Amino acid sequence: MCGIVGYIGNKKACPILIAGLTRLEYRGYDSAGVSTIEKNGLSLMKTKGRVKNLNDLKGIDKLEGTIGIAHTRWATHGKPSNENSHPHQDNSKTFSVVHNGIIENYAELKNLLEEKGYHFYSQTDTEVIPNLIHYYFLKDKEDNSTMKFLKAVRNACLDLKGSFAIEVISSYFPDNMIVVRKDSPLVIGTCENEKYISSDIPAILSYTRDFYLLNNLEFTILSKNSAKFFDTELNEIKKKLDVIEWNSSAAEKDGYDDFMLKEIYEQPSAVRETIGSRISNDLKCEIEELKFSKKQLQEITKIYIVACGTAMHAGLSGKNTIEKICRIPTEVDIASEFRYRDPIIDKNTLCIFISQSGETADTIAALKLAKSKGATTLAISNVIGSSITREADYSIYTHAGPEIAVASTKAYTSQVALINIIAIYFAEILQSTKSEYLNFLKQELLSLPKKIEETLKCKDQIFEFAKKVYQEKDMFFLGRGVDETVAKEGSLKLKEISYIHSESYAAGELKHGPIALIENGITVVGIMTDENLVEKTVSNIQEVITRGAKTLIITNQKINYNNFNEVIIIPEIAPFISPILSVIPLQLLSYFISKEKGLDVDKPRNLAKSVTVE
Ligand code: F6R
Repeated sequence: MCGIVGYIGNKKACPILIAGLTRLEYRGYDSAGVSTIEKNGLSLMKTKGRVKNLNDLKGIDKLEGTIGIAHTRWATHGKPSNENSHPHQDNSKTFSVVHNGIIENYAELKNLLEEKGYHFYSQTDTEVIPNLIHYYFLKDKEDNSTMKFLKAVRNACLDLKGSFAIEVISSYFPDNMIVVRKDSPLVIGTCENEKYISSDIPAILSYTRDFYLLNNLEFTILSKNSAKFFDTELNEIKKKLDVIEWNSSAAEKDGYDDFMLKEIYEQPSAVRETIGSRISNDLKCEIEELKFSKKQLQEITKIYIVACGTAMHAGLSGKNTIEKICRIPTEVDIASEFRYRDPIIDKNTLCIFISQSGETADTIAALKLAKSKGATTLAISNVIGSSITREADYSIYTHAGPEIAVASTKAYTSQVALINIIAIYFAEILQSTKSEYLNFLKQELLSLPKKIEETLKCKDQIFEFAKKVYQEKDMFFLGRGVDETVAKEGSLKLKEISYIHSESYAAGELKHGPIALIENGITVVGIMTDENLVEKTVSNIQEVITRGAKTLIITNQKINYNNFNEVIIIPEIAPFISPILSVIPLQLLSYFISKEKGLDVDKPRNLAKSVTVE
């Protein structure tokens, strides 16, 4: 969690830093702060609460410095408060540091530093970093030079256990900044006489398309017109520039009230981009990032799909397709469970990791574990150069464009599309399913952008329904087969942005316990897109209607609509792919309920977009 921004150039840093923080606020919004290099030393301005509060700080408009660092916080160690806000400084106020990640051994380091006379003023893990840098800087008897600065940062970082992306400035070095990352994201944007640093690319995409993507422990000394990279031995290393194709408007609201609504409406184009040239109009399926031979695929005896939250729900729908058309046993696991349960993995296991951000700590750890046990690893991510894509043997991008709202929408639908394409690609090589059926699935995928547009027309109907139910305390989501995976996603969306308690169940499971909770007036959402299962689900919904539930049905099946309170008809589509359509009314439902309740849709309480801590 947490977002960090930095700037070195000829312009005043502070307004650029605050603009960058505003774009990164989805990563955390408990406090914000900036530190710049001024003529009389380092400035430090920080405050509890949202980034916009920074503008109220006395003197912030007087900052002239053209180098600065900034931070927006999702609190881990220490409650949200002014003292715990970043940047943090060493006792002599010579070094300012912002940090994203967690220092696991901070208590031990704090004790060591306290023994050496350092004092601490916050409850954060971060405050050890500037003091450690100061300690190593003083210990080194060489004359001051940027290499001495770098050495002090390097020595401090080698003492840290855990994850970190940090930016360091010092009043001794008014033209430089040092940045480094380990298991937390950090990118450097570069243009003539300016360097922009950020936790993610979209926050600084309006300034440049040229980026350096840092690998773990690549220590970087920046000045306004240079970026020099060093390994842990402080040998200089060369890095290539990556040119990013998104444009900055992809990271703006573009006239929508909220990013979430914009991203819901971007789904036709996001899914079109995901499919891209992977399925051509003449129904060829090629994934240029994958080079599996038939022999290699035949040797795979088991697939794990590992992810968190919404990405895990995309994995659940992928399992349905892979097992059915590739005939390879597939298990889906939550990354935070997988990593601690000693999963049975060998060289014949393929582990697929799905992560929009590519920075989710548990997913990265699960990937490292799978690799260490000899599995072949494949990463699916939306973020170019993100950590999981750098760790995995194979990486495929969803190309859904930046997703800013905390609640995931277009990332989910593009993940479901991509995992279906991967399943088709495998099945074709394995010849495990008739080519006629695979061609049918490809046609269905190609029809998606149009069908998503059609599905989005349910907006007004959902809006009216949301107005009727927004004050409810509980809701249930039911489905069978692939529809159950969508029930899970609909329920998660409702919880996270509407703060309504909800449960999702396999429809047939309800009578084994949870039906006891069904009482008069409760809302039950039923999803039915599979003709083989629809009658069974209808019967289960009937059971809750008998007990007084009111129902919202999402379906493309021919059923007797009179039994239900509200029915949303979505276009017909192959069941494997149907989550991409059936989830849309559920995304809109949680969106409109959240709006009716007057909540902050894009930044729900207690959450952050990218969970880079365990
Ligand atoms: C829910 C949501 C989260 C993420 C989860 C994984 O709307 O966004 O559940 O899906 O935190 O994040 P990534 O995909 O970045 O690994």
